[in-house]
Amino acid sequence: MSIPSILLVGCGRMGSAMLSGWREQGLATSVAVDPAPAASASAGADLTVVSDIGAVPAGFAPAAVVFAVKPQNAAETLPLYRRFAGRAVFLSIMAGRTIGGIRSLLGDGAAIVRAMPNTPAAVRQGVTVACPGAGVDAAQRSLCERLLQAIGVVAWVDDEGLLDPVTAVSGSGPAYVFLLAELMEQAAIEQGIPADLARLLARQTVSGSGALLAASPEDAAALRVAVTSPGGTTERALAVLMASDAWPSAMSRAIDAATRRSRELAG
Ligand SMILES: NC(=O)c1ccc[n+]([C@@H]2O[C@H](COP(=O)([O-])OP(=O)(O)OC[C@H]3O[C@@H](n4cnc5c(N)ncnc54)[C@H](OP(=O)(O)O)[C@@H]3O)[C@@H](O)[C@H]2O)c1
Repeated sequence: MSIPSILLVGCGRMGSAMLSGWREQGLATSVAVDPAPAASASAGADLTVVSDIGAVPAGFAPAAVVFAVKPQNAAETLPLYRRFAGRAVFLSIMAGRTIGGIRSLLGDGAAIVRAMPNTPAAVRQGVTVACPGAGVDAAQRSLCERLLQAIGVVAWVDDEGLLDPVTAVSGSGPAYVFLLAELMEQAAIEQGIPADLARLLARQTVSGSGALLAASPEDAAALRVAVTSPGGTTERALAVLMASDAWPSAMSRAIDAATRRSRELAG
């Protein structure tokens, strides 16, 4: 059994993605709390699914309490779990809820890890950045890392302030990549390519390039240069995209705007 008992609070898209990964590795008897859990979160020998904390079996002693509810549900939900402070580590994947804000709902003795995943978690290809709060010990940190590895790659930062730009880069980042696929599809149609083929070309180019990047030890810049023959078509296109007022400036401004918005929403 490689994953110890977990109390999962919120079993929607992210919660159920983590749960599936834990169950594959072998999950000790655990409980998920959600009034309307994702279909994949079926009860079994390893999992009891309940609709509210009142139905959590008395004496249940999880190693970790994982909060995967929406940030707007934090204030009403988290105080119900105070009794686990001092006995379990709290792992939060709620966007924008700071360690200080979470501690104010759980009590000063709570050991809290805050993490920011992204949506490729649904296919175990996510990237999560985690930040340990004061009082989190090595074993608790290691447990949180194993829990988060169920949805992809995990990195750690000690400076919680970095989670704002992390949110802007990897949290929101899948939307930028999906926008790229949308825009390539539209431009292909403008050039006369039939809509079905335009969709196939855009999707497969984005996902195939991602797979190549993941499989290659080379930098993204080196892979780009490898596609760019002098005087060729790619060079002509990149002259447009890489103009100083085009993508370099737009990406920098976009990530700056998202970082500032993350700071505004923090609480
Ligand atoms: N999706 C992303 O891209 C992403 C990225 C980074 C971080 N996150 C964070 O991950 C968290 C979960 O996001 P998600 O996309 O998985 O949301 P979701 O699909 O809406 O899942 C949240 C689940 O929590 C349930 N819930 C609400 N109140 C509850 C309570 N008091 N106790 C137990 N369960 C309760 C919801 O039920 P109802 O539907 O009935 O309300 C829902 O099933 C959010 O805090 C979000 O900020 C998400």
